[in-house]
Amino acid sequence: MNITFCCTDMKAEPWLVGLRAALPQAKVSEWHPGAPQADHAVVWAPPQRFVDEQRGLKAMFNTGAGVDALLKLRLPPSIQIVRLDDAGMAVQMAEYVCHAVIRYFREFDVYDADVAQGQWALRKPRVRKEFPVGVMGLGVLGERVSRALRQFEFPVRGWSRSPRSLEGVACYAGPSAFRTFLSSSRVLVNLLPLTLDTSNILNHDTLSLLRPGAYVINVARGAHLVDDDLLALLDSGHLAGATLDVFRTEPLPAAHPFWAHPKITITPHTSARTLREESIAQIAGKILAFERGEPVGGLVDVARGY
Ligand SMILES: NC(=O)c1ccc[n+]([C@@H]2O[C@H](COP(=O)([O-])OP(=O)(O)OC[C@H]3O[C@@H](n4cnc5c(N)ncnc54)[C@H](OP(=O)(O)O)[C@@H]3O)[C@@H](O)[C@H]2O)c1
Repeated sequence: MNITFCCTDMKAEPWLVGLRAALPQAKVSEWHPGAPQADHAVVWAPPQRFVDEQRGLKAMFNTGAGVDALLKLRLPPSIQIVRLDDAGMAVQMAEYVCHAVIRYFREFDVYDADVAQGQWALRKPRVRKEFPVGVMGLGVLGERVSRALRQFEFPVRGWSRSPRSLEGVACYAGPSAFRTFLSSSRVLVNLLPLTLDTSNILNHDTLSLLRPGAYVINVARGAHLVDDDLLALLDSGHLAGATLDVFRTEPLPAAHPFWAHPKITITPHTSARTLREESIAQIAGKILAFERGEPVGGLVDVARGY
């Protein structure tokens, strides 16, 4: 069995070493133009040339949860695409989102500003039931994040494409429930995949429906958010703050207004990192299951876009 590795922005060698150790029966090598045909590929945002040359692939294993970069390519109709399921990302996402929600709820952002001015000033505690958190996307990551938020007793709402049921979470599904979901949320957490249906979904119309003084936490993809609409709603005071981990252009260009905006906190796409060891173990297990003809978790529905 031949496995080819083609991940942009990743050092190949440690992955090759890890994949060879996990799959000693396989020949694992890094792809280069003109490389021999492989049976399976381990990929992250490969170039179109990779897909055009590797016509014999049975499956591509994406080293992340989001497959939007892969689905932009012209892919052969027969190819199976498999995404990472959690592989250590869900707990990181839960940490990141809980940290951001708690920071806003407890007003640690305001205390930081006070302390920087040498001010010892107590603020009136906020009421938890007036701080409902809406989680867009109740998949592998959204579900874990919702459970973590429940641990802190925040009222949690969730929105997905198909109906879901999660203990302690008010679940909404589909476009018809979207307005109700938004208007009942004080904090909006985006954990949707980027698809034709979800691109630009965080825009002036939708964000205006959030409760006044709302907060936005975008940890999914930059193209979900219309940047200028967010800035206008922060400047009008309808939104109180935003924590952004993902951007339309990454790295975020130096001149982008998000960098210096007092109500925006940015991080460099680090909310849930691909962990190499966990990912290699999961991908190796899936390749073996695939070869045995067993069902493989995390198969992407290309038509649906995630
Ligand atoms: N910032 C980072 O470091 C980072 C790291 C990893 C992932 N991500 C992003 O997080 C995203 C989510 O990951 P995941 O593993 O949780 O994905 P997932 O398991 O595929 O879950 C996606 C969820 O979104 C819902 N959804 C999809 N399209 C929708 C629509 N049009 N309307 C309403 N709901 C819709 C799905 O609904 P159903 O339940 O009905 O299918 C599902 O609940 C990834 O696609 C990626 O872009 C970011």
